[in-house]
Order: sequence, then structure tokens, then C-alpha cells
Amino acid sequence: MFILALSLLHIWMFLTSGVAQNVSIGALLPPGINSTQWTIAASKADKFISQLNLTEKAGIVTGELTGTCLEYVAPIERLGFPGLCLADGPAAIHLADKASVLPAGLTAAATWDRNLLYQRGLALGAEFRGKGANIALGPVAGPLGRNPLGGRNWEGFSRDPYLTGVAMDLTIRGVQDNGVQACAKHYIGYEQETQRSNTTTADGKNVDGYSSNIDDRTLHELYLWPFADAVRAGVASVMCSYNRLNLTYSCENSHSLNGILKGELGFRGFVMSGFFATHSGVKSVLAGLDMDMPGPTAETNLGETFFGPNIVSAVQNGSLSEARMDDMLRRILTPYYYLGQDKNYPSVDPTTELVIAANYGLLPVDTPTPSGRNVRSDHARLIRQLAASGTVLLKNVNSTLPLRSPQVIGVFGNDAADVSDGLAFDGSTGSLTPPFGFNIGTLTIGGGSGGGRNPYIVSPLEAIKARARQDGSRVLYVTDNSLLAQDVFTSVYPSPDVCLVFLKTWSREGADRIAFEADYDSTAVVNNVAARCPQRTVVITHSGGINTTPWATNPNVTAILAAHYPGQESGNSIVDVLYGDVNPSGRLPYTIAQQEADYNTQILNITGPEAEESWAWQVNFTEGQFIDYRHFDAKNITPLYEFGYGLSYTTFALENGLSVSRTSRGAISPFPPTINNNNNTSAGGNPALWTQLLNATTTVGNTGSIAGSTVVQLYVSLPQDAVPSGTPVRVLRGFEKIYLEPGARQTVSFPLTRRDVSSWDVESQNWRIPEGNISVHVGFSSRDLPYHTAVRVL
Ligand SMILES: *[C@@H]1O[C@H](CO)[C@@H](O)[C@H](O)[C@H]1NC(C)=O
Ligand SMILES: *[C@@H]1O[C@H](CO)[C@@H](O)[C@H](O)[C@H]1NC(C)=O
Ligand SMILES: *[C@@H]1O[C@H](CO)[C@@H](O)[C@H](O)[C@H]1NC(C)=O
Ligand SMILES: *[C@@H]1O[C@H](CO)[C@@H](O)[C@H](O)[C@H]1NC(C)=O
Ligand SMILES: *[C@@H]1O[C@H](CO)[C@@H](O)[C@H](O)[C@H]1NC(C)=O
Ligand SMILES: *[C@@H]1O[C@H](CO)[C@@H](O)[C@H](O)[C@H]1NC(C)=O
Ligand SMILES: *[C@@H]1O[C@H](CO)[C@@H](O)[C@H](O)[C@H]1NC(C)=O
Ligand SMILES: *[C@@H]1O[C@H](CO)[C@@H](O)[C@H](O)[C@H]1NC(C)=O
Ligand SMILES: *[C@@H]1O[C@H](CO)[C@@H](O)[C@H](O)[C@H]1NC(C)=O
Ligand SMILES: *[C@@H]1O[C@H](CO)[C@@H](O)[C@H](O)[C@H]1NC(C)=O
Ligand SMILES: *[C@@H]1O[C@H](CO)[C@@H](O)[C@H](O)[C@H]1NC(C)=O
Ligand SMILES: *[C@@H]1O[C@H](CO)[C@@H](O)[C@H](O)[C@H]1NC(C)=O
Repeated sequence: MFILALSLLHIWMFLTSGVAQNVSIGALLPPGINSTQWTIAASKADKFISQLNLTEKAGIVTGELTGTCLEYVAPIERLGFPGLCLADGPAAIHLADKASVLPAGLTAAATWDRNLLYQRGLALGAEFRGKGANIALGPVAGPLGRNPLGGRNWEGFSRDPYLTGVAMDLTIRGVQDNGVQACAKHYIGYEQETQRSNTTTADGKNVDGYSSNIDDRTLHELYLWPFADAVRAGVASVMCSYNRLNLTYSCENSHSLNGILKGELGFRGFVMSGFFATHSGVKSVLAGLDMDMPGPTAETNLGETFFGPNIVSAVQNGSLSEARMDDMLRRILTPYYYLGQDKNYPSVDPTTELVIAANYGLLPVDTPTPSGRNVRSDHARLIRQLAASGTVLLKNVNSTLPLRSPQVIGVFGNDAADVSDGLAFDGSTGSLTPPFGFNIGTLTIGGGSGGGRNPYIVSPLEAIKARARQDGSRVLYVTDNSLLAQDVFTSVYPSPDVCLVFLKTWSREGADRIAFEADYDSTAVVNNVAARCPQRTVVITHSGGINTTPWATNPNVTAILAAHYPGQESGNSIVDVLYGDVNPSGRLPYTIAQQEADYNTQILNITGPEAEESWAWQVNFTEGQFIDYRHFDAKNITPLYEFGYGLSYTTFALENGLSVSRTSRGAISPFPPTINNNNNTSAGGNPALWTQLLNATTTVGNTGSIAGSTVVQLYVSLPQDAVPSGTPVRVLRGFEKIYLEPGARQTVSFPLTRRDVSSWDVESQNWRIPEGNISVHVGFSSRDLPYHTAVRVL
């Protein structure tokens, strides 16, 4: 049950499994940093810095690979500084034993549930803290998902910057409420894995990582937007990315680091490099890089650092000022004091070094393994709830779902079963196999630093069998896709009452996907099962993002669930949805096209001699803001399932239309009032951008016979004649997930801020509210917007 207190700070009461939790989360949260406390922390940092000699200073800005953590800032024992332990990643404390694998960012975004996004951050942060990691390397807003096949899209949230921005904000607050530092990554324009960083040709020639060439407005309205939310939420650090931006490497790009991040957005924490994303010393430091990771790696033969001793000599010979050196240190150490990490922070878990060694195959088999700390707490419950809430019901003809006591259940597909090679940890050989990963076994999460070591996996088959035992029903299954694709499976008798086909799509860091369809002959698998199971075939996908689904229009496929990457409780959460214990309420955080040609952006993949030329690796973001639904809307392309779409076992309707009112009297200026002569000392940029200007209100009712949640969505259209070309038809600017009993209704309000109704004006380098009528639309998806109303803001 929700009680939505419509104050500036909404207070939600949320009933989960009978336990009431109060979460102070609303559409408009106050800034995440208390500046009084920040100032106190900064003076503690200064006091500490004043005691350091130059070598020690250089040590703090330079990581070490071979420490007790994956990435590590060495301690300074004479001053009692314990060092900083950094650990991947966005959905799990990567590599760690006795830790949870949570649903991926993509899955969390598909919940469209602010409370769950915050709870996920809180649980993640608790696990990092429990293991003694000071800095959690996540969450992810880059890639945003420009390319449907981007290998790391699932680590982030949505192809929409507003939804991603909300998810960044709430995840960061959740993580940092544990006293753990979050790291917003990867900044910026990091939208593909192919040639993400420099390579060396056979004859020793350097080939640079690709350059994302992005115009200023697109940068602000699309790719930078969620980073502004992250900074406003108080994120401790930002990680610069591998790629180049406008031909300059992200970690030495003064315009984007000093100018935009630290200047315009008022970011006062530190910028750290992605692993091996630093390409220079003093040049990077002067451009705004504050910490080099992983630092010297001579022992592992991976190269030298541009920082470390080079920083010492640069200060000594005057090419780097001591003031900038101290600025770097202040930026690194202020969050440490601000979050209270100087007081009683847990020590680094004793198994940390071993799990890292094991990951690199460096651990002798007979190494005794000390007992690590179990940090999983009762997070399994939240993981199960999140995954069920992030499952999107795309099709449900004739109420195929929820299942009604089927006697014989058919389960099909290599994604249904337990993994045949361990717990599907990314380091296991099978899972690294390009391009589709391991064959038999369900996918809980993607690969690379965003993955995790599953403590266990509840596979769909296991959970369905457990449920069937309770119900006295039978489960028949075929999990070998080659049998299914060749249509040579004969063991299925009697004919099942329902056939559940589980498909998977592997996605990982370091490589982009090469196909839109789910892996392992998915289309043949579905069609062959469906032909034997007409009008009762249900397809469930576990995927890192966008798939084309040629089988979706097969009339024998009567229900489809997109379950994304669900984490360790996969089977339990899908059973909850299949049997109706959970009424599905996930919504697509991306668009599913009818055919792959409907997507307008693709991975730049150069082959032949040009692949050895740095100049050739330029990705021109000529589509501007038109990715995902913005592209489909502008080009009037009908998607198969649009952004924001998702079904329920009940029905909802809006009542009383949409009313939009101004929340302040008096004239509103087109540009935000400036503060401190435009010196943005406020995290996130000019605070006036977050002033509420409009209040949009509607009423939603549950018109069906089952309790459930829906997501009411608000979109804004700026007047096309008052803004330069390149303005999307409409953009998401509000959403609320509302739980309703049958017959119940509730008023829903959306605060619209100045930023929400502005566009980035390149000439004045500021956000500007256009003249003329702004239209506001409300509904249940980007294409189901029954009400709209026009309002003049200026
Ligand atoms: C929720 O808030 C109410 C009122 O402020 C308080 O009485 C209750 O203890 C809180 N519950 C939890 C679980 O924090
Ligand atoms: C900020 O912190 C100070 C000092 O702890 C406290 O007095 C003040 O109430 C806080 N401000 C806000 C807005 O929470
Ligand atoms: C700085 O202090 C360290 C001890 O932490 C010492 O080993 C080192 O020699 C000192 N360096 C200089 C330049 O004084
Ligand atoms: C990438 O370039 C840096 C210098 O900018 C160099 O140190 C490094 O070895 C190069 N890496 C590869 C894989 O070529
Ligand atoms: C990238 O370069 C183009 C062309 O010079 C320029 O218009 C654009 O503003 C630059 N992008 C950013 C983010 O500065
Ligand atoms: C100063 O030191 C840096 C780092 O070792 C070096 O790259 C640079 O060339 C030096 N500059 C001068 C003027 O000696
Ligand atoms: C890039 O092209 C190569 C060579 O054709 C191919 O093997 C590879 O799969 C392609 N990568 C992607 C992401 O399309
Ligand atoms: C649906 O199933 C029926 C019965 O098996 C079959 O005749 C028909 O061809 C199937 N349709 C498709 C599109 O596969
Ligand atoms: C829906 O159910 C009705 C009645 O059983 C049946 O005639 C019809 O073919 C079904 N439609 C689909 C699309 O399965
Ligand atoms: C990107 O733009 C640059 C500069 O206009 C041009 O040289 C290059 O060919 C373009 N690259 C691609 C892949 O279109
Ligand atoms: C911005 O204001 C802060 C705090 O008042 C001050 O420390 C800083 O020097 C100012 N920066 C500029 C560029 O004026
Ligand atoms: C927005 O409108 C709702 C419904 O009329 C009202 O309860 C709420 O107080 C309004 N919020 C603001 C900030 O004006």
C-alpha cells in the first residue's frame, strides 16, 4: 500500500512481504551533500594533507594493482591512514566470495520503482562495507546505450537519460548511506567496446581508442544529464572512460573534466581513471584527472604509471604546482572524511587477495582459504523482489499467464537449467567464450567487471520443479538448444499444458554483441516448441538489453516475459511472476523494434587497413539526441514494444485527465538565475535548475480484479518552433510506480523542474526555457499517452 504524501519530499510507506519500511524518496530530493559537513570534512582533509611529504602525496593519487584489493591506494602507516580499497562493480562486489549477485542496473531500471532502486543501492553498499571496500565502482550511466548491441549496456540503467538519472541518484544515495563511496562511471561518450582503448599493431604502431564526436547540446541533454544527477546526489568520485571525446582521451580532456564536470556541474569529489585509461601524466592532471588507476603494474607486466614518481618529479621541476597536487588530495580525501571512513571502517576482508589471485588463475589449487565474511545478509529477499519487479510482461494473449494449476509443465531452452560449468562466474573459462558465453545454464548477470560471483543460482528449472512438487504437477524438460533447434526432441509426453521457453543473450565487457536475436538459435527453438505447444507457449528472456523477437508475432506464442539479468534468485523471481504471486509491473527501459534495421545507430567496427589508423576510429554521434524512442517518434516508426511499455494481470486507467499548474507566482526568466557570479559551488550545477516550476496531476485507478502496480509516466514536448532543430518529439520527465487494490484510485503528482522544461542553449552555454506552449503528456508508456495539456511557462 502506498501513501503518497505530496510534499516536496514525499514520504512513502511501502509494504514488502508484510514488513513496513519508510523510505523518504520522492521525485524531488534535496541535494545529497550537506555543505556544512563537506566543509568540515575538507578541513580534516587539509590537516591530513599538510602532514604528508611529496612521495606520500604522489602515492595517494596513484593506485596499486598488487594490494589487498583489486585497486588500491596504499596506507600511510606513520599517520594511521589505512589506505583505500576500491572494488568493482555496479551489481555485486565483483570477485568477492560470500557476497550477493544483485539484478543488473538494466533490471533495476525496468522496475521503474524509486523505492527499489534506493533499496538496491543500500544493499549493495552494505556488502561493500561488509567486505571493507571504501569505494564501490558504480553505478553506471555511460554507456547510456546509444548502440543496442553495446557490450556493457546492462551495467547501466536505461537508454533514457531521465530514468537513468533517477536511478543514478537513488543508487548513489543508497550506497553512500552506508558510508561507502560511490563512483559514477564511465565519463563520457563510452558507448561501445570495440576499440574502446588504444591497441598496438603487430609492427608496433599505436592505434588510438575510438573518439566519440558529440555535439555540445546532445552531450548536455543526453549523455551528461544522468551525471548531473549523480553529482547532485553527492557522488564521491567519477571515473573517466577509455574512449576519446572529440579526439581527446576522456581522462585528459580538460573541457569535459575541468570545464563541464568540475566547473559547470560543481563536482568537488575526485576523478579517477578507468583501469589503464590514463594516457599521460602532467597533461592529465592539468586536465582534471585526480587519481590514476591501477598505478604501477610492473610486477604483472602490464606497464608503468604516468603518475607515481613522475608526479613527484613534475612537482619538483615546477611543471605541476603544489596547489594542484593538494587539490587532487583534497578531492580524494574529503569524501573519505565526509562519509566517516576515518572512524571504525571495517578492515579489508582477508579473502580479498585470494579471490583476486584465483580470478587471474594465480592461486595454487591447494592454497588454504581462510574464512571470508558473509555479507549477504537477507538480501536474497530484495534480489528476488527486484528481479520480479524488473520483469516486463510483453504479451499475454487470452490470459495465458498467470498459470492456473497446470498439470504438465514443459520447460525448454539452455537458459532454463543449472549452469553446467560452476556458478557462471565471469572468470570461469566457459563464460568467457565469445560471442555467446557458456552453453547450458541460466544467465543471472553479464560478464566483466560488472559481473559477480554467484553464491548460488536458483535456476528457473529448479524453481519450477520445486513449485510443481508443491502443486503435485509434473515438469518435462529439454535444455539442449541443438535438439530444440533441429526439432528432434521426442521425449516430451504427454503434451504439456504450458510450454515455458527460456532464452538468453550474453553480453560482456570488452566485446560488443554481434546479434540482435537471443543466442543459440533462439528463433528456431521458440518456433519449434510453439508448433508443438500451440497457443500456450510462453517465452522468457534473460538478456543484457535489446533483442529483436521474430517469434513474438507467432500466434502460438501467447505470452512473453523480458526478465533481463535477474541475479542469483532468478528462478524464484520468475516463478513468482509466472504463478501470479507477483503481478508483473516492469516496464521497458528501451524500445523493442519490429526489425533491427529500425534502430539507427551501430557499433563502429573497422576492418582492413584503415583499422590501423587512429583517425579512422571516430564515432560521429550525428543522430544527436535521437536514440531509442526519440528516434522512433521522430521518424514515426512503429515499434513492436515501445519504451515504457509493459502489461499487468490487472488493468489500469487514468481518470480526471491531466492538470498542470505553475507552482510559483510572478515572472519566470528563460535562464536560471545565476548564483555566485555563475561560480557553481553547488553540486550538480546551478541549483535553480532543480526548482519546481510546474505541478502535473492526474488520477490512476485499478480497473481490474487483481491488486497490482502500474507506472504512470509523464512526457514533455518543447515547442518545435521555439527551439533549434534536433529537439525530440517528447521526452520522459516524470514517473511514479503506484500500487492499487482492485477498484482503488490514487492522485499522482509530478513536480516539473526548470531543467525538465529547458533545452541546452549552445550559444549562451546555459539551460533555456523556450517561449510558447510546452505540452505535457501523461499515460502508461511513450506511445500510450491518453491525456495532454499545454502550458506556457514564460
Ligand atoms: C516509519 O515511520 C514511522 C513514523 O515516522 C515510525 O513510527 C516507524 O517506526 C517507522 N518505521 C520504520 C520501519 O522505520
Ligand atoms: C547540515 O549539517 C549540519 C551540521 O551537522 C546540520 O546542523 C544541518 O542541519 C545540516 N543541514 C541539512 C540541510 O541537513
Ligand atoms: C616520506 O615519508 C615516507 C614515510 O611514509 C618515507 O619513507 C619517505 O622517505 C619520505 N619521503 C621524503 C621525500 O621525505
Ligand atoms: C596505449 O597507449 C599508452 C600511451 O598512451 C601506452 O603506454 C600503452 O602501452 C598503450 N597500450 C596498448 C595496449 O597499446
Ligand atoms: C565537439 O566538437 C564539435 C566540433 O568542434 C563541437 O561543436 C562540440 O561542441 C564539441 N563537443 C563538446 C562536448 O564539446
Ligand atoms: C618535469 O617532470 C616531468 C615528469 O617526470 C617530465 O615529464 C617533464 O619533462 C619535466 N619537465 C622539465 C622542464 O624538466
Ligand atoms: C567486427 O568485425 C569483425 C571482422 O569482421 C568481426 O569478427 C567482429 O565480430 C565484429 N564485431 C562486432 C562487434 O560486430
Ligand atoms: C501453430 O501451431 C499449429 C499447431 O501445431 C501449427 O499448425 C501452426 O503452423 C503453428 N503456427 C506457427 C506460426 O508456427
Ligand atoms: C483465445 O482463446 C479462444 C477460446 O479458447 C480461442 O478460440 C482463440 O483461438 C484463442 N486466441 C489465441 C490468439 O490464442
Ligand atoms: C566522422 O567525422 C569525421 C570528421 O568529419 C570524418 O573524417 C570521419 O570520416 C567520420 N567518420 C565516420 C565513421 O563517419
Ligand atoms: C567559487 O567559489 C568558491 C567558494 O566560494 C571559491 O572557493 C572558488 O575559488 C570560486 N571559484 C572561482 C572560479 O571563482
Ligand atoms: C501538486 O498538486 C497536488 C494535487 O493538487 C497537490 O496536492 C500538491 O500539493 C501540489 N504540489 C505542489 C508542490 O504544489
